[in-house]
Amino acid sequence: MVVWVTGASSGIGEELAYQLSKLGVSLVLSARRVDELERVKRRCLENGNLKGKDVLVLPLDLMDRSSHEGATKAVLQEFGRIDILINNGGRSQRSLCVDTSMDVYKELMELNFLGTVSLTKCVLPHMIERKQGKIVTVNSLMGIISAPLGSGYSASKHALQGFFNGLRTELDTYPGITVSNICPGPVQSDIVKNSLTEEVTKTVGSNGDQSQKMATSRCVRLMLISIANDLKEVWIADQPFLSMPYLWQYMPTWAWWITGKLGKKRIENFKSGLDADASYFKIWKKKPD
Ligand SMILES: NC(=O)c1ccc[n+]([C@@H]2O[C@H](COP(=O)([O-])OP(=O)(O)OC[C@H]3O[C@@H](n4cnc5c(N)ncnc54)[C@H](OP(=O)(O)O)[C@@H]3O)[C@@H](O)[C@H]2O)c1
Repeated sequence: MVVWVTGASSGIGEELAYQLSKLGVSLVLSARRVDELERVKRRCLENGNLKGKDVLVLPLDLMDRSSHEGATKAVLQEFGRIDILINNGGRSQRSLCVDTSMDVYKELMELNFLGTVSLTKCVLPHMIERKQGKIVTVNSLMGIISAPLGSGYSASKHALQGFFNGLRTELDTYPGITVSNICPGPVQSDIVKNSLTEEVTKTVGSNGDQSQKMATSRCVRLMLISIANDLKEVWIADQPFLSMPYLWQYMPTWAWWITGKLGKKRIENFKSGLDADASYFKIWKKKPD
C-alpha cells in the first residue's frame, strides 16, 4: 500500500508517518523543508518495518500549484500507484479581522484550500482509472465551528469541507474511492507557532502551553482508525471541547452565544499578549488520553 502524506515534516503529518511506518506501508513524505523530511524518514526506518526504498522524500510546496502534476508523476514513477492521499499540510491564523491584511486571507486560501484542491485534482484521475483509493483531508473543528482570531483559517477549512463533500457526491459511481474529512480539535504540534498573524510575513513564533491539548499520537491513532473504516466525517477532540461542534450543528443560536462569551476572553488574552487559548483550557480541563 502506498500512502502520500503532505505536511509530513512536523506535527500531525510527522506522527502519521511514524504510525504508518509501523504498519509497513510505502510512504511518500511531502512538505517544503527537505532536512526535516529526511529526519522523519530516518525515524520511520528505525522500527525496521520499512527499507530505505519504501520511503520517498518528495519536497512539495502546496502554494506552487504548477509543481503538483510533476510531483504526482514522480510518485507514480517510484511506486506505480497511490492508494491513500492524506492532505494534511496547512497553516493557521491568530489575528483579528480588523487588523489583518488581505494578503493573509489570500495566503490561507491559497495554501489550505486551493493547494489541497490542486493536489487532489492531480491524484484523482489516477484513482478513477484504478477505481480505488482513499482521499483523506485533515480539516479541523474550525471547518465546522468558528472562533475569534481565526476567521481566515476557519473560512479555508469550511471551504475544504464544502469541496470534499461535493467531490464525494461526484464519486458515487466509484464505490472504491472514498473521501474522508477528519476534523481535529486542539492537538499538540507547531500549528500555533507557524500561524499567520496580521501580516503575511509575521508568524506567532511560539506554541505556548500545549499541555492541555490532545497528544499527537492519540489524534493520529484515531485518524488511522477512521481512515481504515472509511469514515466520511470525523470529529476528534477531548470532551468537553467536542461538545462545541455538536452545539454549532444542532443548536447554533446557543453556540453563537457561548462562543461569543468565551471568545471575549480569548480576544482579551490575545490583546494583552497572553496565550489566547489559556481561557478555554482553564475552563475545560483535559482528560487523560
Ligand atoms: N494541531 C492542531 O491543533 C490542529 C487542529 C485541527 C486541524 N489541524 C490541521 O492539521 C494539519 C497539520 O497541522 P499541524 O497541527 O501538524 O501543524 P504543524 O506542526 O505546523 O505542521 C504543518 C505542516 O504543514 C506543512 N506546510 C506548511 N506550509 C506548507 C506549504 N506551503 N507547502 C507544503 N507544506 C506546507 C509544514 O511543513 P513545511 O513547513 O516543511 O512546508 C508542516 O509539515 C493542518 O492542516 C492543520 O490545519 C491541526
